[in-house]
Amino acid sequence: MGNIFIKSDADLAEMREACKLAARTLIEAAKLIEPGVTTDTINRFVHDYTIKRNAKPAPLGYRGYPKSVCTSINEVICHGIPSDRRLLEGDIINVDVTSILNGWHGDVSATFFVGEVSDAAKALVTVTRECLNLAIDKVKPRTRLGDIGAVIQHHAESHGYSVVRDFVGHGIGRHFHEAPQVLHFGKSGRGQRLLKGMTFTIEPMINQGDFRSRILDDDWTAVTIDGMLSAQFEHTIAVTDDGVEVLTAFDEPLLNCDIFK
Ligand code: MF3
Ligand code: CO
Ligand code: CO
Repeated sequence: MGNIFIKSDADLAEMREACKLAARTLIEAAKLIEPGVTTDTINRFVHDYTIKRNAKPAPLGYRGYPKSVCTSINEVICHGIPSDRRLLEGDIINVDVTSILNGWHGDVSATFFVGEVSDAAKALVTVTRECLNLAIDKVKPRTRLGDIGAVIQHHAESHGYSVVRDFVGHGIGRHFHEAPQVLHFGKSGRGQRLLKGMTFTIEPMINQGDFRSRILDDDWTAVTIDGMLSAQFEHTIAVTDDGVEVLTAFDEPLLNCDIFK
């Protein structure tokens, strides 16, 4: 993955716009989520909304990925490919939007409820969102990457859940995926120290059961090996002088997602 690219204030001003667009796109896409809607409909919306704003959907054509957004339902951990699959009452679905605006990337995702979902699904989604929030709260200069992984792992495992190992957060900026890798597990006090101007995602994937994943024959869709549920939230953040800026923060509550911060 190479060097960590430190962003100047001028870089951040540009990157902030890409991140705001990604967050706004997710807010609007969330309004489509209801039983009967296909994931292709979500894909078409994200694609058109992005193009109309002179931006590009980063997933489209990325390493051969065929669509403009990832839609990961129930046991799908990440990289679910939109299709004619209709959302069903009781599903949980992660929608992961990455926008490229003026050469900068913004990457954000949330897990939504389709109609009424089980208490078990709600609990998993709530803990997953808490994992992301706890991790964001750790971000400031001198914090180590291991501190981020440790707080996520501790919170997830203390609720009886497991942390996916095969997919990680990442530096982001002019490139979709830059150094460093941001593991969602690990030991506090270990790993790279954070520096002002670093920009990266934190995107914990938390499973009800086994942490292991396998990839379907489409070469993208990652699912839990036991078929149990997986949830994920993602923000793109910047390390500031004394803390963190959530570049993909939502300026309106997300519909179909009763967690908002
Ligand atoms: N948005 C995902 C991430 O958070 C990456 C998706 S890669 C794609 O890093 F090709 F599937 F879009
Ligand atoms: Co990401
Ligand atoms: Co993403």
